[in-house]
Amino acid sequence: MQKILEKLEEKRAQARAGGGAQRVEAQHKRGKLTARERIELLLDPESFEEYDMFKEHRCTDFGMADQKIPGDGVVTGNGTINGRLVYVFSQDFTVFGGSLSETYAEKISKIMDMAMKVGAPVIGLNDSGGARIQEGVASLAGYAEVFQRNIMASGVIPQISVIMGPCAGGAVYSPAMTDFIFMVKDSSYMFVTGPDVVKTVTNEVVTQEELGGADTHTTKSSVADRAFENDVETLKQVRRFYDFLPLNNKEKPPVRASFDDPDRLEMSLDTLVPANANKPYDMHELIMKTVDEGDFFEVQPRYAANIITGFGRIEGQTVGVVANQPMVLAGCLDINASRKAARFVQFCDCFNIPILTLVDVPGFLPGTAQEYNGIIKHGAKLLFAYGEATVPKITIITRKAYGGAYDVMASKHLRGDLNYAWPTAEIAVMGAKGAVEIIFRNEIGDPDKIAEKTQDYTEKFTNPFVAAGRGFIDEVIMPHSTRRRVAKGLRILKNKQLENPWKKHSNIPL
Ligand code: HXC
Repeated sequence: MQKILEKLEEKRAQARAGGGAQRVEAQHKRGKLTARERIELLLDPESFEEYDMFKEHRCTDFGMADQKIPGDGVVTGNGTINGRLVYVFSQDFTVFGGSLSETYAEKISKIMDMAMKVGAPVIGLNDSGGARIQEGVASLAGYAEVFQRNIMASGVIPQISVIMGPCAGGAVYSPAMTDFIFMVKDSSYMFVTGPDVVKTVTNEVVTQEELGGADTHTTKSSVADRAFENDVETLKQVRRFYDFLPLNNKEKPPVRASFDDPDRLEMSLDTLVPANANKPYDMHELIMKTVDEGDFFEVQPRYAANIITGFGRIEGQTVGVVANQPMVLAGCLDINASRKAARFVQFCDCFNIPILTLVDVPGFLPGTAQEYNGIIKHGAKLLFAYGEATVPKITIITRKAYGGAYDVMASKHLRGDLNYAWPTAEIAVMGAKGAVEIIFRNEIGDPDKIAEKTQDYTEKFTNPFVAAGRGFIDEVIMPHSTRRRVAKGLRILKNKQLENPWKKHSNIPL
């Protein structure tokens, strides 16, 4: 018996050794951890239960029959993060460059199927040379099996991808279909075709980092949601992020003990909005002073910064925050901001996360660049996402809510549950100056008249009371009481019931 137990330990040690000491050393030399070291940092201590540790590839071509490594390049299983169940796969670059074989794909598919059955998220740690070249189409088939599962799991369980090394070719499409992508700075990259192919086809000379590094994907392409300094920092942040998410679409988001008084008043907010309507202020300040303990996990902070998206908590319960940022492009909605916020709103709605919308928006960004690139369709994405969302929606207008953008930003008309405005709110078709220049175009040569009309328009329309008088705004609130109002609102809306009409699925303007 003792011998059998020893044999098991021996076999386990062999699997744990991955591609061998030399390749592990090479991995470390690049500042990267191994697949197993990463899992250890991601999960609670001793919580990892591994599956298919002894599974091997079935390829016999190109001398592969003699090169079998138990586990075959991907470590899979489940564990917990702060006590909550999660399924994980971690690609092992030390085994055939982490490349995906048919059996490797079966391992990933197995844990995805289990995650779906029990209703728990999947986190994928990606570090792979792509399709296992020796296996040909069997590997491609394996990828497609994973893709199909990504699609079926979308909106049922949260899926998170962490890119910790290469991720190239069609392999990028699995992460692309998950809910969030996090990257490690300097050691990870994602592209559909690498620099060599790019050079051949388009004659562009570009490095791996420029083409698909963390900087590119968090600022230019918006493929990635955040990037962190190194493996350790990244995994720590993924743990923090995980705590905001429910386990599946039938659960409410988790509630964490909070020591922050929900009735906390923030007197400094009474002077947040500057007297001059054209002066910017930082919307982050309002977010930080509203959420519990100022703890806010921002998503895509470096992309389309004219809109802020991220997760915080009120009374310990997760809320998704969407906020116009007057510091960037005056908080205008443009193509990038609309796409960014629409996807965020959709995620929140999929997973029962209430949405807090903070509005200071002068309208949609004008210009040929916007129109030629389809602001009509892209802007409609955000409108559609808000209108379709059935989760609790609380909206606070701090200053401008002009034109179509007023409608879009979770207005009452899009089934906003509680719509508040600060006394500084200006809810109108447009700013007073622009409005007067259109209505009184014939009197533009008379500055006194124009000034008088502008003053008139300002008094009449650039305030919250016209909208409040019609019931489009439920209450004009003191800025300092924002947190108290939001907390109370969320408490009331806790058991909100609202269902959309039955349909196969909607046809959001993609
Ligand atoms: C089999 C692979 C491999 C692969 C790497 N290796 N990629 N084995 N299939 N796709 C092996 C190498 O032979 C090597 O083995 C080890 O992994 C480490 O690779 P190196 O090249 O030494 O590492 P590095 O210099 O860091 O370069 C990493 C790399 C490079 C950039 C990923 O290996 C590379 O370009 N690989 C090929 C990538 C590729 O073309 N993949 C197919 C793309 S198409 P030893 O034994 O020496 O350690 C694709 C389609 C997916 O993925 C489609 C989905 C629909």
